[in-house]
Amino acid sequence: MDVNDIENVAVLGAGNMGHGITEVVAMAGYSVTMRDVEKEFIEDGYESIEWSLQKLAEKDRLGESPETVLDRIETTVDLADAVSDADLVIEAAPEQLDLKRDIFGDLDELTPEDAVLASNTSSLSITRIAEATERPDQVVGMHFFNPPVKMDLVEVIYGEETTDATAETAYEFVEAIDKTPIYVRKDVNGFVVNSVLGPFMDEPAWMVSNGNATIQQADAAMVHRRGYPMGPFELADLTGLDVGYHVRNEAGRPIPPILQEKVDAEDLGRKTGRGYYDYEEGDGPDYDPEDGEDFDTLQVEARMANEAAKLIGDDVATADAVDTGMRLGAGFPEGPCRRADKIGLDAVLEKLESLHEETGADRFDPADYLVTLVESGATGRDAGEGFYEYDTGGTRDYQFLNHDLDDGVLTVELDRPEQLNALSEDLLGEIDHLLSNVDVDDVRCVVFEGAGDRAFSAGADIGGFADATPTDFMDVTPAFETVHEFDRPTLAKVDGFCLGAGLELALACDLRLATEGSEFGSPEIGLGLIPGGGGTQRLLRMLGETRAKELVFRGNRIDAERAEEWGLINRCVPEDEFDDVVAEFVDDLVSGPPIALKVAKTVMNEGGEVGLDAGLAMESQGFGLLMGTEDVREGTAAFREDRDPEFEGN
Ligand code: COA
Repeated sequence: MDVNDIENVAVLGAGNMGHGITEVVAMAGYSVTMRDVEKEFIEDGYESIEWSLQKLAEKDRLGESPETVLDRIETTVDLADAVSDADLVIEAAPEQLDLKRDIFGDLDELTPEDAVLASNTSSLSITRIAEATERPDQVVGMHFFNPPVKMDLVEVIYGEETTDATAETAYEFVEAIDKTPIYVRKDVNGFVVNSVLGPFMDEPAWMVSNGNATIQQADAAMVHRRGYPMGPFELADLTGLDVGYHVRNEAGRPIPPILQEKVDAEDLGRKTGRGYYDYEEGDGPDYDPEDGEDFDTLQVEARMANEAAKLIGDDVATADAVDTGMRLGAGFPEGPCRRADKIGLDAVLEKLESLHEETGADRFDPADYLVTLVESGATGRDAGEGFYEYDTGGTRDYQFLNHDLDDGVLTVELDRPEQLNALSEDLLGEIDHLLSNVDVDDVRCVVFEGAGDRAFSAGADIGGFADATPTDFMDVTPAFETVHEFDRPTLAKVDGFCLGAGLELALACDLRLATEGSEFGSPEIGLGLIPGGGGTQRLLRMLGETRAKELVFRGNRIDAERAEEWGLINRCVPEDEFDDVVAEFVDDLVSGPPIALKVAKTVMNEGGEVGLDAGLAMESQGFGLLMGTEDVREGTAAFREDRDPEFEGN
């Protein structure tokens, strides 16, 4: 089955995962049949879909009406009805192996013979499920995360017999429904995300059990010092302590005593009112940023890196897949492989070895792959190679942006869609590095855009503020100036939110084009801050005091139409014309005379900062300088000969 042949999809189960998967598949334009065993379950699931689609429509995040999407969804309690003409079946039944094997046995009888059969299991073996059919080669894992509508990641898991063709179809289907797939090439317990999340939760529990840390210390350190969205204990309370307990038990891993105690006392987290924190008599997590000061975060991160190394060394996943999985599936600020490369793999290995020696515990046993990397000198970013290769000679492998140089157009895509392309220090550093190192002679113009369909950028990464000290921010961030002063014209292609530092990046560009639905603003004041990337100054110069102060003082968002009226952007364009309008602008910039554009940019940028006389003098000098260029000869010759000029930049 090729992905292009998929038309009908069946989702088995109308629970949280089942109805969520049904919704995203229908939103992508497929006909879906959602099946559950009781009518009541189906009605509940269907209502949840209606509610969710309504919410998306209210937020303007649905390209069509909720009714149109709902029209693609059929429901039934009859399994044969649901799957008899399905090209792809996604099973999302309760996590019981026998139940799933029964279902797959039936699917084998009832589905067309070339249908792909997928399971959304998060913890059971795909191989064992596939064995219930006569076609294990067509069975694959498709592990969505909860809630599917919001979570971008899907793990595509090979069972022992799964063919590449089946896995590829599943992978491409995930892309077709606008989610991000990662391959899990072997059927290992926990797949990728839960395998790496294991030590994140488990190691702090051992540290607390052994009296080396407190719960508050661990959570505060991981959140405030290391930027994770939640502390390990807070997360355990949310997911339920029994869940983690059973996973460890099934995998035959020792249970940290503190977890055992809590489970014995039936303090299972939020759902029972008490877990590591008290939600009934207390207010839940009660840690403060400074609690985390003395916690050994390396002990936890070294174990996560070790787990990642095991997965990579065993050919389960690539470093990139592990990192993508942890960013999108667990909300990690960066993947464990990138992070370990920054820490230094030698330091990671040393930590594991010394803990192994000290405690004798197997969990610190270093992965062969980690040892091999360190022994071969691939100790991380500073060495130029670790889990990843880093080219230290100017170019480098970027984590948070994508770039492409094609026919003189350098496209820079801010690539953190899960955080609405929030500008972290790392991402700003990458922009600065890219523009500072690209060969300007190859570039005729730069286009900045945001990944995903929601934002150019929703501002500075608020997550990065927690652990920062005032002095961290007291220097002007070089990225904005690098963009502003880049020797070629720059254009911001804005489709969606353009806020805070995102707006400041757009302001640092020479031109700004936006779709009608885009929104602009400087919301920093709402955080008790002011714009810190040149916003106060550039807005003032661009809009005048009246409007600039309105934006900065009130912190409200304005729509693209008003932004155009105010002169904040060059054009506000209907969505369906946007790419064409951008292409027209880019075309003019790329085919324009590079030296004249550079001089125009310099004298206009700098001339705006000095008095009129000085500005006019700069302009005259620039004009004189250009008169001697080949480009002027070409421009005037082309005019005489009535043809388009071909500027070479000489
Ligand atoms: N920094 C870090 N993360 C950000 C972010 C920022 N500036 N802006 C958005 N995000 C994250 C959200 O935390 C959320 O992540 P989660 O799914 O893990 O919770 C994700 O992006 C989606 O944003 P969400 O708020 O759920 O979307 P929404 O449609 O409800 O609201 C905005 C969109 C832009 C109005 C809202 O995200 C917002 O106000 N962002 C902050 C804007 C800001 O103050 N910028 C200036 C920073 S100095």
